[in-house]
Parts: sequence; structure tokens; C-alpha cells
Amino acid sequence: MVSTPATAAASGRQYLPVLNTENPSPNQYLLPLTTRVNGQNHLEIGGCDVPALVQRFGTPLYILDEATLRTACRQYRQAFQTYYPGESLVIYASKAWNCLAVCAIVASEGLGIDVVSGGELFTALHAGMNPKTMYFHGNNKSVEELKFAIDTGCTIVVDNWLELQTLAEMQQPVRIMLRLTPGIECHTHEYIRTGHLDSKFGFDPDQLDQVFNYVSQQSALECIGLHAHIGSQIFELQPHQDLTAVMVQWLGKAAQYGLPVQELDIGGGLGIRYTEADDPPSIDEWVKVICDGIVRACQAQNLPLPKLIAEPGRSLIGSACVTAYTVGSHKVIPDIRTYVAVDGGMSDNPRPITYQSVYRTLVANRMSEPLTQTVTVAGKHCESGDIVIKQAQLPETQPGDVLVVMATGAYNYSMASNYNRLPRPAAVLVNAGEASLILQRETYQDLIRQDCLPERLQQEP
Ligand code: LLP
Repeated sequence: MVSTPATAAASGRQYLPVLNTENPSPNQYLLPLTTRVNGQNHLEIGGCDVPALVQRFGTPLYILDEATLRTACRQYRQAFQTYYPGESLVIYASKAWNCLAVCAIVASEGLGIDVVSGGELFTALHAGMNPKTMYFHGNNKSVEELKFAIDTGCTIVVDNWLELQTLAEMQQPVRIMLRLTPGIECHTHEYIRTGHLDSKFGFDPDQLDQVFNYVSQQSALECIGLHAHIGSQIFELQPHQDLTAVMVQWLGKAAQYGLPVQELDIGGGLGIRYTEADDPPSIDEWVKVICDGIVRACQAQNLPLPKLIAEPGRSLIGSACVTAYTVGSHKVIPDIRTYVAVDGGMSDNPRPITYQSVYRTLVANRMSEPLTQTVTVAGKHCESGDIVIKQAQLPETQPGDVLVVMATGAYNYSMASNYNRLPRPAAVLVNAGEASLILQRETYQDLIRQDCLPERLQQEP
């Protein structure tokens, strides 16, 4: 690929949020809502100068904007209050980014939480979340995890027969939801589609009668709700509208079996903008479609309105964060490509190599300089596929520049690894000019903390 100059007039400023509406939906912006360029021509987020944050905390660095995360939480809650006449609850799908500070923020905004492992549950509990608003998902929960969930008093979203039978045999009173596969297709990457029939998640809808019948005979199992999730990074509204009709049908059937089902959890899935080409609906539009769909279907079937639950992850936190890297080596292959390497890559953001995800970038200390080159931003891992961005438009860059990748709040830190024994990055929370560390940078000592060296392998000093 030939390195081509970008339009001379363009600079990193083109990505800045233009907040021309009273209620900007964070998932429709490439950068956190507080982003601006300051007097030094530097990128500023949450009132903090990004190059200064990098000096203080090092790179790679996740920079999470508290105001943007809180705005998204409020918009979800507000939209449900506006469009749904019944009770509702928004729960954060914490697989997107689970750590103490993030859990504490969403809890303080009145959200509940979806956890998918003992580890996520443990973290949410330590952040002080109320177990009554916790929902435990997963297609292969261990017996230990089930016991942990029962002891904490959270609701278990039962995925399959083995789990159902295991819980029934435990004979301990527990609130459950049943996860069902709705058989709804949506256009997203095949790895993040879950609602189609050939999915590892949930009971097959053909088994509905059998499952409801079984559950109705288990005195320890209090089946309070039904759950479905059709996939992630979805831009269409139709699949979720279809889902509301399917779920209300299930609700009617559950009532026939005398199950005390009062909650419907329609999952998450609303997409976010990673590039200018992405055009997701706003949080408000998404919630409205769901509320209208449920209300209409319940009226048609003469059913009382259930408590309506949604569990967004990406659209709550994805756009609230950027990752800052330090630019290092360059490699120019004439007439083919220029590589610009950064000090992270697939270990802090495995999405490009896993889903071919496309990101946008800018140079935080050169915000007004024209974008003069198209380069490939490479990670530092020993893997040719470790490419952060295939075609990035950059100003002339030097080693030491601060390259920022946008919209990295969801499924970056939570999917990070120590590949090549890279310590995982630090994360800071920025708000009104203050930066607080929320994840310490791992150290080399952390890397060997779990290592065990059997005595017979120990070398003489
Ligand atoms: N509920 C359930 C049961 C889920 O499985 C998921 C996501 C969500 C809610 C939240 O979906 P969201 O609102 O974030 O779209 N690692 C992939 C995404 C995997 C999504 C897994 N489930 C990625 O990086 O794109």
C-alpha cells in the first residue's frame, strides 16, 4: 500500500466532539464529551492535559472520563423513566470494564450490574454494589460460582439444563431468570452475535414448555424473570424491536405455568461510533424502541407490564475512554507502507486482531498540525498481526509523541493480557481537572507473583 498524504486542511481537531444538542448521546461521539484542545494545542480530557497525564502516569494509559460515563448512565435511566410507565432497571454489563472504580461510579448512578464470573462478582461486591441489583450470567458457571452467587443474594440468570438441575439439587432458595435464545439475527461480527439459534448461550425456544414445567415444580427456584441478549455493537433498531415481541410471548407462556415472572431483561447491544462511518442510534432512541415495543406487546396480550431491565456495556463506557501510547520506532518501506510503532498493542487492545476492529487516532501533542501521512500504527508484540490501526492519518510524528486511540473504554482493559509479559497499563479517571489512578500499572514483580518455581528447578546463585 502506498503511503498517501491526507487532506492538508485536516488535523486531529476534526475528531473533537461538537455538542450541538442539549442531550448528546456519548455513544455517537468518537471522543469523550469533555474533550477539547487547550491553549498549548494539546488534547485535553476531563479538564486534564493529556501529554501531562502521560508524563505523570506513563504509557500505555487508559484515560477514563467520569463525566461521559455518568452522562451515559443518566441518559439510560432518564430514557426509561420517560418512555416506560412501569418499573425499570439499567444494569451495567461489567464485562465491558470491570474494576472497583467503574463499579462504584455506575452504582452511584443508580445502576445495577451484570457479572459473568466469580471474579466480576467479587469485584462488584467489593465496590459496594447492592447484591439485589446484581445479575449473574454465564453459560458454564461452576458449582463454586453458583454457591458464591447464592450466598451473596444476587439473581442467577440460568443458561442451561445442567445449571438448572444443579441449582434445583442444591435445594437453597434462589432467585433465578431464564436465558432464552430468541432466534433473532443481527448484523454484527459473528463472534459477538448471540441471539441466533446456533449460539452456545441460553435455552432453545423449542424447550420452553419443558423448562417452564420443570421450574414450576422446583420449590427452591423462584423464577422472577426471562432474559435474552442478541449481540453486541448493533446499529439497527429492528432486531431489538422484534425481541420485545418475542419476549412478551414468552412472558405470556410463563404465566400459564404459574411462574412468578415479573422481569424481562432485554440484554444490551447498542453500538458505538468507532469511526466517522459508524452511525449508531442514540441511547434515547434505543430505549424508546424497546419501551414502546414492550408496552405494545403487553397491551396486545393483555399482560401487566413487567419490570423492564436492560444491560448495556459498550454504549455506557466505550466512548468515555481513550488509550494514550508513546510513539517509538518508525519503519519506512518505500512505496509500500510506513509503520509507526507504539508501546502497547494487542495486549491492551485485542479487538483489532480478534475482530478486525477499526479505530481512529490522533497525536495529543500535535492537535493543530495537518495530517500529512497515512501510516500503519503497529503494536510492540512479537506478532505480525499486532496492528493497532492499519491506515491512520497522522501529522509528522517523532518518537516520544503521544498517540491517542479513541473509544477504548469497552472490552479493552477487560480483555487485556500479559502477552509477551507486558505489564498491563495503568488507568486514570479524569474529572474537572483532576486525575485519580483507578488501576495501577502492573510491575515486573506483579508478572511473576503467581509463578512457582519447584525446588528442584532452583539454580544455585
Ligand atoms: N448482556 C449479555 C448477556 C452479554 O453477553 C453482553 C455482551 C452484554 C449484555 C453487553 O453487550 P454490549 O452492550 O456491550 O454490546 N468482546 C466483544 C464484545 C463481546 C460482548 C459480549 N456480551 C467486543 O470487544 O466487541
